Amino acid sequence: MSKTLQDLLAERFGETLVIPEALAASPVARGIANHRTIRHYRDEPVALDLVRALCAVALSAPSKSDLQQADLVIVQSPAQRSALAALLPDNPWAAKAPAFLVVCGNNSRQRQVHALRGHPFVNDHLDAFFNPAVDAGIVLGTFIAAAEAIGLCTCPISAIRNHPEAVAEVLGLPDYVYPVAGLCLGWPAHPGAMSPRLGLAATVHVDRHGGADCAAAVAEYDARRNLTRPYRERRDDARFGAEVTYGWSEDKARQYARPERQGWGKFVRARGFKLD
Ligand SMILES: Cc1cc2nc3c(=O)[nH]c(=O)nc-3n(C[C@H](O)[C@H](O)[C@H](O)COP(=O)(O)O)c2cc1C
Repeated sequence: MSKTLQDLLAERFGETLVIPEALAASPVARGIANHRTIRHYRDEPVALDLVRALCAVALSAPSKSDLQQADLVIVQSPAQRSALAALLPDNPWAAKAPAFLVVCGNNSRQRQVHALRGHPFVNDHLDAFFNPAVDAGIVLGTFIAAAEAIGLCTCPISAIRNHPEAVAEVLGLPDYVYPVAGLCLGWPAHPGAMSPRLGLAATVHVDRHGGADCAAAVAEYDARRNLTRPYRERRDDARFGAEVTYGWSEDKARQYARPERQGWGKFVRARGFKLD
């Protein structure tokens, strides 16, 4: 990779940052800054030993109170891959990826540990669901960074939560264990493209949060992103209008103007969680 960290971050955030030398010299930082989700893979397997080793690297990430509430399910069986792929018609890359995993939050183990040690579990509230989700997110990000460091590429799949009961059935998830995201893994068929992010003025704050008004930051981002990464497809012009200027904010507002994953809360409660 010939681009400097400063180049990569300028491309991502539209701002030339001052980068201290130690960070600029770090291949890890450059690799993470150069991240891109890729959805097309070469027809080459990813060995199970490699996937397991990446799982171990990912699970080396920090964990809330050392509770270790993230699990990874490597889906190997063709029958199970097909069953999951059938639930993901809008994500055909999930069927084609040489390897596929599901990152789960697991609060079951903690409850069992309480039973094993004979102590009451008295924190049966939203935190019991939230902490595993955070751990799972950290494990997901760490897995992606490690995979990309050796030339693999990934695509997380939150669409796995569109049919959580079916996914839990296919994977045999016990109560208090839930899917957070699927993860396609493979060798990239193309280099991918960098997806710009909101300017740091919107997302990085010093001492006090910048407040709720994001209109200027969103307008800046829409314009900057459209220069390098205009949307190739527009959502639902029939409903929202074909003449509207399209960019990130229009796409995200259209996406969430449609009901999505409305059964998720019901599923999580049925797994045993109390969310108060
Ligand atoms: C938790 C999570 C869930 C995601 N779910 C999906 C998904 O279901 N389908 C998909 O194609 N991409 C999915 N993505 C990929 C995002 O669309 C992608 O990260 C985003 O567009 C930014 O692009 P970049 O990762 O290349 O920077 C997901 C990403 C994350 C972190």
